[in-house]
Amino acid sequence: MSSWWRDAVIYQVYIRSFADGNGDGVGDVAGLRSRLPYLAALGVDALWLNPWYASPQVDAGYDVSDYRRLDPLFGDLDDAKALIQEAHAHGLRLILDIVPNHTSDQHAWFQSALAAGPGSEARARYHFRPGRGADGSEPPTDWPSIFGGPAWTRTVDADGKPGDWYLHLFAPEQPDLNWTNQQVRREFEDILRFWLDLGVDGFRIDVAHGLTKDPAFPDLASREAGGMLDAATEDHPYFDRDETLAIYEDWRRVADSYEGERVFVAEAWVADASRVARYLTSTRLHTAFNFGLLSCPWEASALRTEIDATLDVLAAVGAPPTWVLSNHDVIRHATRYGRAHTSLADARHLYGTPVDHALGERRARAAVQLINALPGGTYVYQGEELGLPEVEDLPPSVWQDPNRRYKDHDGPVRDGCRVPLPWSGDAPPFGFSPDGATAPWLPQPAEWKNRTAAAEEQEPDSTLSRYRALLRTRRDWLNRGLGASTALEWLPNAPDGVLAFRRGEVICYANLSAAPVELPAGHRVLIASEPVEGTVLPVDAAAWLVAE
Ligand code: BGC
Repeated sequence: MSSWWRDAVIYQVYIRSFADGNGDGVGDVAGLRSRLPYLAALGVDALWLNPWYASPQVDAGYDVSDYRRLDPLFGDLDDAKALIQEAHAHGLRLILDIVPNHTSDQHAWFQSALAAGPGSEARARYHFRPGRGADGSEPPTDWPSIFGGPAWTRTVDADGKPGDWYLHLFAPEQPDLNWTNQQVRREFEDILRFWLDLGVDGFRIDVAHGLTKDPAFPDLASREAGGMLDAATEDHPYFDRDETLAIYEDWRRVADSYEGERVFVAEAWVADASRVARYLTSTRLHTAFNFGLLSCPWEASALRTEIDATLDVLAAVGAPPTWVLSNHDVIRHATRYGRAHTSLADARHLYGTPVDHALGERRARAAVQLINALPGGTYVYQGEELGLPEVEDLPPSVWQDPNRRYKDHDGPVRDGCRVPLPWSGDAPPFGFSPDGATAPWLPQPAEWKNRTAAAEEQEPDSTLSRYRALLRTRRDWLNRGLGASTALEWLPNAPDGVLAFRRGEVICYANLSAAPVELPAGHRVLIASEPVEGTVLPVDAAAWLVAE
């Protein structure tokens, strides 16, 4: 039997926006527990939960102040234990999000580092350095924070004078840990064990490519500073450095010492698939998100190039690919695909411009049908199964994304893909919270009344109904072609703009061309993203076929 994670469909639960059990307008563990039957019925194999640890919530929980406690916003350890047990009872595995690159500035370690002063053992767990210039008033390097502004903040010494600077690749409230420090390394292994002992099935590793920094702290100077998306290749001062890989060898030993297959998935925004493969040997991590497809335009040749590159390099290390279209950091794909220019870079550029929602949703349905026919695992970002678009017109007064604090940050606000899910009813909060609750932490568009899970459940042709049917069909055909062990074979002579390939007994056709295409004779349609009349696959649709 193949390992579960090699072809798992994993649902990303952005917990604060999934379901609110206690009525404070923020999603929580109680809400998630109440919706486990929905997730089981959807047909996914596992859940990945965004961070639920104690946190001041400056970056929606990616600023952790205590890795062994839940934030009271979400529940407590008893809730966590109950969730793990109930998820397992529903046949769902559970993956947590571990945040090792940085802590919160409110973490006990950082507070004691500030108090202990320069040169102390407490400061050695982070990156504190003197500033440049005669009075140390210039940051130690020219590195920018991903959220805008410099990646360094100056401290104040006990005598009230300006002191050393500390590094934060993200917000100032997220100081970077020093991974050459043995205490840091041992502490995180211990945190992994804490949660593995409670029965979790694995971890998504936040900023997995960022943990180690060049000890010489060179300037970026003329090289591309980049955000996470543009992480450069060789010898970057803080991304994708060789030393990081050894950390994961230690982590793998921890995971392998547990029963069951406990796994890691790396969030590694590196230059290309060959760089991702370095993380995925049998002594390092199991899988990594494949952001190549998520960044690609809706164009057959670009998608095929990306698919081939991924399959080639991952086959060489024996790791399965994962296919991702959306997550809590990027513009939802139903919106990206609804414009004339459809890459992620285009979407950032075209933010707020008119969108053809029907077109976007139609392509999104075809895309999910396509990725679920590829070898490897897939991810579903909560709400995509309802066809939710990005909410691009949230008023600035409700924005919470820390990247908006900085004028030099030109990326879109990430709140637009984090709007609480619509479950039922005709008006906000659409069943997200119980009656009489505080309003959801971000406002939901009134037109989502047609997008609730309850409404879509009634509609055989809704995106939700199609996801359910698709995932059911995928399961049914895992042993006959769609499973991890079957290679992908491109079919010759596919018309331009059409992706056509075979996996065992199953053939997948995705029509990204401008005209309907004829499907191969002697086959019946197992399932399609749009109704298929006779043997004609419409534009922006995908179908799975088997021989008659
Ligand atoms: C997470 C982001 C977060 C950042 C800093 C990421 O890549 O996905 O949501 O802001 O790491 O922790």
